[in-house]
Amino acid sequence: MKPNLHISLDPVAEIAAQIEIAAREAIEARGRFSIALSGGSTPKALYQLLASPEWKPRFDWLKIDVFFGDERAVSPDDALSNFKMASQALLNQVPARVFRMEAERADLESAASDYQNALQDNCDTLDLVLLGLGDDGHTASLFPSSPQLLEAEKWVTATPIATLDPHLRRLTLTFAAINRARRAWFLVSGAGKAERLKQVLNGARDVKTLPAQGVRPQNGELKWFLDEAAARLVG
Ligand code: 6PG
Repeated sequence: MKPNLHISLDPVAEIAAQIEIAAREAIEARGRFSIALSGGSTPKALYQLLASPEWKPRFDWLKIDVFFGDERAVSPDDALSNFKMASQALLNQVPARVFRMEAERADLESAASDYQNALQDNCDTLDLVLLGLGDDGHTASLFPSSPQLLEAEKWVTATPIATLDPHLRRLTLTFAAINRARRAWFLVSGAGKAERLKQVLNGARDVKTLPAQGVRPQNGELKWFLDEAAARLVG
């Protein structure tokens, strides 16, 4: 299947515009919009844009449920926390309903199953999962060669020994959750991602080595929002 690529000078503005449409459609059809946020550094600019005076009024925030694709912190106030980053950039400024992954809990397995319950109780199918592409081909906190890649039942799992620095305790959505979403959209930017992106999109299928290849929504839409530097080898 040909990948659905959106290459632009400003992929953040491009994906923001598409999120606005997706949110409106979901709210019209089902009354609420559910989104799982990605972490890392790339999406911060997106969250800041959505919080800007121009963009914030375009969303009906009271009807938006915000989940997370993964969390990687020892406390919600940890500098590496995806929740902290998203809160500072966006969530503290809008009245969305926010569901935080408690990766600081001693019993990570129970934190994972509680998050799965929160997801299943509040939204059976995520309207949108935002994803990034790690330098090693990971996405969410699904790392090369990790047993979590094979998880077929649980929607959320603990990844106690992440193979990538920083070696933090993590929680992550699994492919079982991501691939039942209505949309899975990657936001990838920078020349440093170009080679890995080429492998993920054009290389032989090998999810164990390139976990991002495991994202294939069964009945949903897979899109890649790329800047020209990241798309240099695939455009
Ligand atoms: C996290 C992530 C992760 C991220 C990639 C890419 O580590 O919290 O959600 O999967 O999306 O590591 O991160 P960058 O876009 O910052 O390179």
